[in-house]
Amino acid sequence: MKEKKILLPSDPSGVRSPWFWIGTWSMGGEGFGKGDLRESLDVINAAIEAGISHFDTAGFYAHGRSEELLARAVGKKRGSIFVSTKGGLVWEGRRVEHRGSPSELEEQLHASLKRLRTDYIDLFQLHWPDPEIPVGESIDALKSFKQSGMIRYWGVGNLTEAQVDSFLRADKDIPHQVHYNPVHRSDDVLNAGKERCINCITSPLEQGLLGAGKSSKGKNGIGKSDVRNRNPRFGEANVIKWSQELQRLAGASKVVSVLAWICSRPYVNAVISGPRKKDQLDELASFLKFVEKEDLISSAKGISVLSETKTKDKVRPEIWEHLSEGPQ
Ligand SMILES: NC(=O)c1ccc[n+]([C@@H]2O[C@H](COP(=O)([O-])OP(=O)(O)OC[C@H]3O[C@@H](n4cnc5c(N)ncnc54)[C@H](OP(=O)(O)O)[C@@H]3O)[C@@H](O)[C@H]2O)c1
Repeated sequence: MKEKKILLPSDPSGVRSPWFWIGTWSMGGEGFGKGDLRESLDVINAAIEAGISHFDTAGFYAHGRSEELLARAVGKKRGSIFVSTKGGLVWEGRRVEHRGSPSELEEQLHASLKRLRTDYIDLFQLHWPDPEIPVGESIDALKSFKQSGMIRYWGVGNLTEAQVDSFLRADKDIPHQVHYNPVHRSDDVLNAGKERCINCITSPLEQGLLGAGKSSKGKNGIGKSDVRNRNPRFGEANVIKWSQELQRLAGASKVVSVLAWICSRPYVNAVISGPRKKDQLDELASFLKFVEKEDLISSAKGISVLSETKTKDKVRPEIWEHLSEGPQ
């Protein structure tokens, strides 16, 4: 599709950042029900073939297996693929722990470089702020990795509005992964980043709750060991009911409508979707086709990916209203 937006500053290698990324969390075969690594690999390969160049992963995902899977797909195409990964979260047995000190981040970066079979990372982010380490200290470590050439850009994830204000005060165009969708609004965080961040939306379908598959039924649609049991939304009856009503209104265009709505919100600069099956990637391809066919990309650079006026005009009013109102 036509890219009108360069999200990260261009540099001599000419790698550009479009606004639609694929995330690999659920592809590592761990925590999302029965996984099929071969199908996940096919999904990444098909995405690359379809022209998607930006992939997000993390050392934390599936104990490193998501990074390894991405490395297999990227292979010799490394120069044309933008690899985004993260450090700062680790598994300690069955527990998730923060590890955001400079030395720990450096150790995690080296492990990611190894698993990704590369000598540089395009974008390395602090996955979550570590409550025990001042955010500024973690950020200084990321800056030093950039200076040493191990990474091309640094970024952050899951900062609060106050943390964006305090720690990114003097920065510009910093990728920030923000959890945002119609049932998880964080407009204040997006707004805080409007001058300084490239707001990259994570979990646009609320980990499947806003899709059309089994996981849209919440806890009743996933297994007991599924990581999504930790997501409170999966147990909220009003959210599940709201998603079912969206399904009734939008039918086969549910996913396209959700993504279109998100991408037209103020200060949304990129979206990271997490398909793990081929039919899910096909749904995402329909969304990209819809955007292209209806020429929805916003001309107001940096304000949002899609023009709100044009997008609203192409989504049925009752669906748009439902998405905007959200669950009560
Ligand atoms: N920085 C952070 O803290 C953070 C947090 C979360 C995510 N992320 C990044 O954002 C990426 C996306 O997050 P996410 O995996 O939660 O994304 P998502 O797109 O909200 O949810 C993905 C899940 O939705 C279901 N689904 C149904 N239809 C789909 C479709 N057409 N396309 C995609 N998924 C569909 C699938 O689950 P079923 O097959 O079970 O239905 C899939 O595993 C992650 O891979 C990761 O790279 C970052």
